[in-house]
Amino acid sequence: MQGAITIEGVDKRYISRGRETVALDSVSLNIQPGELVSFVGPSGCGKSTLMNMIAGIVPMTNGRIIHNGKKVSGINRDVGYMTQADSVLPWRTVEKNVALPLEYRGVRTQERKQRVDEMLKLVELEGFNKSFPRELSGGMRKRVALAQMLAYSPNTLLLDEPFGALDAQLKMVMQQQLLNIWREQKKTIVLVTHDLSEAIAVSNRVVVLSGRPGRIKHIENIDIPHPRDVFKVRFLPEFERAYDSLWEQLSSEITKGESL
Ligand SMILES: Nc1ncnc2c1ncn2[C@@H]1O[C@H](COP(=O)(O)OP(=O)(O)O)[C@@H](O)[C@H]1O
Ligand SMILES: [Mg+2]
Repeated sequence: MQGAITIEGVDKRYISRGRETVALDSVSLNIQPGELVSFVGPSGCGKSTLMNMIAGIVPMTNGRIIHNGKKVSGINRDVGYMTQADSVLPWRTVEKNVALPLEYRGVRTQERKQRVDEMLKLVELEGFNKSFPRELSGGMRKRVALAQMLAYSPNTLLLDEPFGALDAQLKMVMQQQLLNIWREQKKTIVLVTHDLSEAIAVSNRVVVLSGRPGRIKHIENIDIPHPRDVFKVRFLPEFERAYDSLWEQLSSEITKGESL
């Protein structure tokens, strides 16, 4: 059960200033332990809402989510969550940023230091312990956020458009690094991305959500064996087939939204 996520008939309605927004409508999905699943869908279809519900930050209107064999109610401390916003604190050094979740959990100084060094090595940021975020590139800051999230060893990672702001080359480097971490550490990963190539390159399955209210419209299995080289997979016929199929599903949802 460790790492498994079961989403059962989840609806989300927001009421704000007297207006109701139906963000998600009967979303159900089983995510296996150690699986890497991506969600794609038009902007506003409830992708971040779904992540917030798995993380237990936002309550659902109907349905339930089971993670690690337990019903999510209240903050889910078994997930590492990288939100769309940059979670790195500008006034703390790299090592102090990575150590933050360990401080919250009362991990002792010596153990904390050792763990921080291990994590910085894992994301290839050895030697940057004392740097401040402003001294780092965008990609390096994302790696600090990754290290911070991995520091307390959650078996499940939620990544909401983690590499969206990076340039194309750097994105591929980060995708490869993510895949390496996923393979070595056997994490369950849920990724939200607007980049179809990214979704196909890294995932076992890609889920297409419809325009708001978000419903599961299509699930594409990506049967490309691992380990994968995120650059080379783009030239495989399986990649092209998956891209065509996903683009057909997604593009019709995007144009539907436009005509409203
Ligand atoms: N706290 C909130 N209150 C009211 N409406 C919200 C709130 N959060 C999100 N929404 C609305 O719910 C819908 C889905 O939002 P979101 O989950 O952020 O979509 P996505 O991440 O797919 O772009 C949008 O219409 C958004 O405006
Ligand atoms: Mg979002």
